[in-house]
Amino acid sequence: MSLNYISLNHFRNIEALSFQPSADINIIYGANGSGKTSLLEAIYFLSHGKSFRTNKQKLLIHYEHESCIVHAKKQHLNLSIPVGISKNKQGETQLKIQGQASRKISELAQLLPVQVITPESYELFFGGPKERRKFLDLGVFHVEHSFFNAWRQFNKILKQRNALLKSRPHNYAEQIKFWDVEFIKVADQINIARKAYIERFNAYFFDKIVSQIPIFSGLELRYDAGWKEDLASTLKANFERDVKLGYTSKGPHKADFSFYINGHSIENIFSRGQLKLLLYALKITQNTLIETETKKQSILLIDDLPSELGEETMTSVAELLKLCQSQLFITAITAESISAVVEPIQREKKMFHVKHGSLTT
Ligand SMILES: Nc1ncnc2c1ncn2[C@@H]1O[C@H](COP(=O)(O)OP(=O)(O)OP(=O)(O)O)[C@@H](O)[C@H]1O
Ligand SMILES: [Mg+2]
Repeated sequence: MSLNYISLNHFRNIEALSFQPSADINIIYGANGSGKTSLLEAIYFLSHGKSFRTNKQKLLIHYEHESCIVHAKKQHLNLSIPVGISKNKQGETQLKIQGQASRKISELAQLLPVQVITPESYELFFGGPKERRKFLDLGVFHVEHSFFNAWRQFNKILKQRNALLKSRPHNYAEQIKFWDVEFIKVADQINIARKAYIERFNAYFFDKIVSQIPIFSGLELRYDAGWKEDLASTLKANFERDVKLGYTSKGPHKADFSFYINGHSIENIFSRGQLKLLLYALKITQNTLIETETKKQSILLIDDLPSELGEETMTSVAELLKLCQSQLFITAITAESISAVVEPIQREKKMFHVKHGSLTT
């Protein structure tokens, strides 16, 4: 299952472009400002309905046009499934799967597991907990079908609870007590799904990855559910505090995880290059888990791979990518700069040269 046809219209600096990528490795090279990141952004947009580099979705549309379209065909066994997304300057999005209009971006996301690595993504990863939660939940979303509904339901209840804490109508304490029954039930479902996923993640990571990259031995992943012990008593104990804050301070919306080595947080130990390598290892582990558990090939976008990576780290990235069966889209300014990474991988490679928003093979 991979994309075997991609077309873009009025996306960033790309007026119109279409190509037939390899199911294995696609190398996209070209000068600064040619449109490499934009091409990856379009593939990400097709799965997530938004950009990975800006919250201003309007910027995805070419300055001189009113809307942008990304369309692709996904190969699944002998079937070719057309999928498409368009966005206009009013912010309206339209989705199409197999010719049928869809309103749910989660349907596209389910069909196309797409992840991205950029030179900056490791910073986000080792910054606030939001990005780590997003990463974790993307994995759980793909392998645990009931997770998405539980997560959506939880967010609705959380919104209600926070609104009550903020506006405090006369019977707010009773109302919160009422909502808390469901809050706890769904929070437990989310926590169980996340914990089960982390267990499977750990098993692969420590078995397959650590044996390839010795600097990772001794790493320990610590998961924080967002509360300790029993959630009912935690909510009770924090009630006065939550009233003062005007929001719920404990629960699965505060979950996080972190890596430790010899008891120290890796942010204080690992170099930038090592952190980047760990980010590669985490994304590749996740894609591999999604692929083995859902039998769907996933897509990994790697923007500007050589940026800031030394020769040895590049060799380790190659070792990691050898473990990965994802459809890869890798960008670099020159094709030569990533030959040390892609040449040792025994998979089909296609090269695409981007120049002023157009492609040549
Ligand atoms: N909405 C838009 N409409 C038209 N052009 C745009 C729009 N947004 C960005 N651009 C232009 O698109 C071009 C491609 O940008 P992109 O970031 O894809 O380049 P790149 O090939 O990744 O470059 P680099 O190697 O510097 O990362 C840039 O020249 C940018 O100024
Ligand atoms: Mg770029």
